[in-house]
Amino acid sequence: MNSNPCAIAFGSINMDLVARTPKLPVPGETLLGRDFFTVPGGKGANQAVAMARLGVTTYMVGRVGDDNFGNQLLKNLKAAGVDTANVFIDKNVSSGVALISVDNAGENQIIVVPGANSCVDSSDVKNLNTLLPSCGVLLMQFEIPLPSILLAAQAAKRLGVKVILDPAPALNQLPAELYPLVDIITPNVVEIGQLVGFPVNDLDSATKATNILLQRGVGCAIAKLGSRGVICTTKKETFFVPAFPVESVDTVAAGDAFNGGLAAAMVENLSLKQAVIWGAAAGAIAATKSGAQSSLPTKEVLIDFLQVRGAFKNNF
Ligand code: RIB
Repeated sequence: MNSNPCAIAFGSINMDLVARTPKLPVPGETLLGRDFFTVPGGKGANQAVAMARLGVTTYMVGRVGDDNFGNQLLKNLKAAGVDTANVFIDKNVSSGVALISVDNAGENQIIVVPGANSCVDSSDVKNLNTLLPSCGVLLMQFEIPLPSILLAAQAAKRLGVKVILDPAPALNQLPAELYPLVDIITPNVVEIGQLVGFPVNDLDSATKATNILLQRGVGCAIAKLGSRGVICTTKKETFFVPAFPVESVDTVAAGDAFNGGLAAAMVENLSLKQAVIWGAAAGAIAATKSGAQSSLPTKEVLIDFLQVRGAFKNNF
């Protein structure tokens, strides 16, 4: 792999409009919420901020609209230390937004209206191509159009840049040629279930599912099993990393924190197991705080958490 110590997040940038409610509504139900706030989000931007907070030089490639949300989102990325020179301000559309409900148990429901994110195209991939030769990791998700993801993965593969794909939101089918371009895929139970076509609800089904993704060509498949932990399968091994038990307040962006932690550890050349532990710790910390980017830990906080939980090794 290309061992350059920086990373690219290629993906969505959203403003999250969050309502906290005692429970999530069922169809047709009106509920009184407790609380409302706006907070920067978007899976791509969350993962960029997660890596930057963990000390990685991070470039964001994507789009915002020419509006107030777009300005705030860009400002926030810059404040987190993310390079935004390749975030295009699209004059023709509004910025992406996500309507989020969070219940008392920290569980959430999210509707994303992609706006500018849906306009990402080959011109953005062209910008990304100028960054790839100096980066070690490319991190992507599914809130931007698939053709651009495919082009970016092809370019990264040619240059030996590690491709980490978070296949979220869930899709039923991926182009077959995408799998062999992916070094690490990181679905949650819903996403991996859709990819393999059967429900994934325990360790056995998760292991079976990760093996299927391996057969399709990915280098490593990691199934995120929420509060149970993570199953990781490569050609050489399958291992389980239990979740760090925490009091969950809001799980929004916990998956993004996992991906950011995993990618940051990869940039630091830690082992795969250590990288998964970094991801699990970052996800657990994020679940204890409200909001998306507001919940992502710094490197100091992460290392401290690992030390307190006895998961710290000298070579972290
Ligand atoms: O993963 C959480 C994110 O999903 C939110 O920040 C929201 O914007 C959606 O993209």
